[in-house]
Amino acid sequence: MSRLDKRIALITGGGRGIGRGIALAMAREGADIAIAELDGETAQSTAAEVQSLGVRSVAVQCDVATRADCEQAVSTVVDELGGIDVLVNNAGWSKSPVSLLDVDDEQFERTHRINTLGTFWLMQLCHPHLVARGGGSIINFGSGAGTQGLPGQGPYAAAKEAIRGLSRVAANEWGPEGIRVNVICPFANSPGMLAWSKIDSKSYDATVRSIPLRRVGDCEADIGRAAVFLASEDAAYVTGQTLMVDGGMGSFR
Ligand SMILES: NC(=O)c1ccc[n+]([C@@H]2O[C@H](COP(=O)([O-])OP(=O)(O)OC[C@H]3O[C@@H](n4cnc5c(N)ncnc54)[C@H](O)[C@@H]3O)[C@@H](O)[C@H]2O)c1
Repeated sequence: MSRLDKRIALITGGGRGIGRGIALAMAREGADIAIAELDGETAQSTAAEVQSLGVRSVAVQCDVATRADCEQAVSTVVDELGGIDVLVNNAGWSKSPVSLLDVDDEQFERTHRINTLGTFWLMQLCHPHLVARGGGSIINFGSGAGTQGLPGQGPYAAAKEAIRGLSRVAANEWGPEGIRVNVICPFANSPGMLAWSKIDSKSYDATVRSIPLRRVGDCEADIGRAAVFLASEDAAYVTGQTLMVDGGMGSFR
């Protein structure tokens, strides 16, 4: 028996990077997988990859910054796979680094729509479906940019810390219904991270040098496996927590 047999996981932004890594790791543990992703093509390709591992999958084109898209995604997944046990709010976005004095409202609002509101809407929309199956696991995504207050990352850091606040409130409000809510703060070799390494190679190199384990994390082997743990019965008594899956570099101030 695999650790996620008979579970159905909805993963946002699962077309590439960490979301894809989590989809593959959860599928290898027997979970059926739904990918809700802005890029319809990559959503389809990850769905095909996980299907080849012997589980069911569905791909939904979805912009998590739009409530109607989130509603459509949840109802499609429930219709096609029969419910939701695990919600992974992985989709995230940040613009190039900019100092606080130069941030405009449009950038601030867009960053919050994708990261904070997308996460919040999907938590609300999935809640009745998790309850209907006797509880479940929600995994949200924070960032060292927020926990450390990285310069140039104002809107993104604020959004990621808002997500951690929401997650703690949900852990308290929904714990009695058997729903666990945790946050992963990752560091991994996703396409998004590789793009940042080219835009700001000095900061990227300094960051990598500061990692105690001396390597950049792998989207599936490192982050995906940590997500499997949080989704599984192994983490049955774990909620309201932030798990730093970053080779040991992240610190809270
Ligand atoms: N990679 C890291 O080291 C790192 C560090 C800190 C936090 N994070 C967080 O981890 C998560 C995954 O990051 P990643 O590095 O894999 O990112 P990535 O940019 O490589 O991939 C993000 C995926 O999300 C999708 N996406 C973007 N906007 C979307 C939207 N509006 N609706 C639906 N899908 C959308 C993209 O199409 C893409 O497939 C994000 O929440 C990110 O903020 C990553």
